[in-house]
Amino acid sequence: MVTMMKKLWFCGWILLCHLLLAAVVCSKNHGNPANDLVDIINKNRTAQKLPQLNGSPGLGCMALQYVELCKGNCSNNNAVNCKPPEDDFTEVFAPNCGVELPTFGTITGHIVGCQSKYMEPSLAFSHVLVKDKKTLSLVRNKSHSEVGVGLVGFHKGPFFWCVLFSDGKTNSSFVLEDQGKGIKQKKGCYSGSAFPCNGVGHGRTAVFLNYIIIFSLLFIFLLNPN
Ligand SMILES: *[C@@H]1O[C@H](CO)[C@@H](O)[C@H](O)[C@H]1NC(C)=O
Ligand SMILES: *[C@@H]1O[C@H](CO)[C@@H](O)[C@H](O)[C@H]1NC(C)=O
Ligand SMILES: *[C@@H]1O[C@H](CO)[C@@H](O)[C@H](O)[C@H]1NC(C)=O
Ligand SMILES: *[C@@H]1O[C@H](CO)[C@@H](O)[C@H](O)[C@H]1NC(C)=O
Repeated sequence: MVTMMKKLWFCGWILLCHLLLAAVVCSKNHGNPANDLVDIINKNRTAQKLPQLNGSPGLGCMALQYVELCKGNCSNNNAVNCKPPEDDFTEVFAPNCGVELPTFGTITGHIVGCQSKYMEPSLAFSHVLVKDKKTLSLVRNKSHSEVGVGLVGFHKGPFFWCVLFSDGKTNSSFVLEDQGKGIKQKKGCYSGSAFPCNGVGHGRTAVFLNYIIIFSLLFIFLLNPN
């Protein structure tokens, strides 16, 4: 009877540890820092009584395409020296994302930033993307109605963030074919994506650590003769 109680108690303990760790991991990283940045942009706007922007996965996917092209163009003082031709949006980014061309709207602004390493979204907002008044007024422009964020880090290289704004109507601008299910996203991530981030932040390490702890605890539990 005593051993039974002990084992039950142990089981409960393992479960509690798992839940606690999962909670810590989740609060630190919802899995998609691009979505977090969209929230931060919206909080900054609503604080000024400006309307929230709708998240657009189509814009997000193109933002990721944009920064993937800028690989190798981050200067020593963290400036992005990268100017893709305007036509790339309709000729490269949109087709790569599967944005239905008739739904391609007007891009009313874009912000790109880079940093030698990954930063949490709130720090990235103030230290990488919105570093001056001009950029802040772009974030707070009344013309925008939609937003998309993409980010990517290169191995041992810099981290890039891109924000795209548009004045399109939700669900009728930058529509993704098959709701974006056909996108082959190798690196990075974008807001509104159905796929998890790849090589961004600490999400993976934390999940891995979680597994190690659960298995260690299970081992102790199973090998415990009492
Ligand atoms: C990136 O930098 C290189 C070297 O300065 C330049 O030739 C290239 O055009 C830049 N790429 C873009 C997309 O601007
Ligand atoms: C807001 O964005 C629109 C479209 O890009 C631009 O024409 C306008 O000048 C901007 N307004 C301000 C106050 O910056
Ligand atoms: C909005 O962003 C700017 C620039 O980072 C910052 O100075 C300001 O405090 C932010 N406002 C809110 C309400 O977060
Ligand atoms: C448009 O988007 C809204 C909000 O995401 C959703 O509730 C609505 O069902 C969508 N409408 C259509 C026609 O897809």
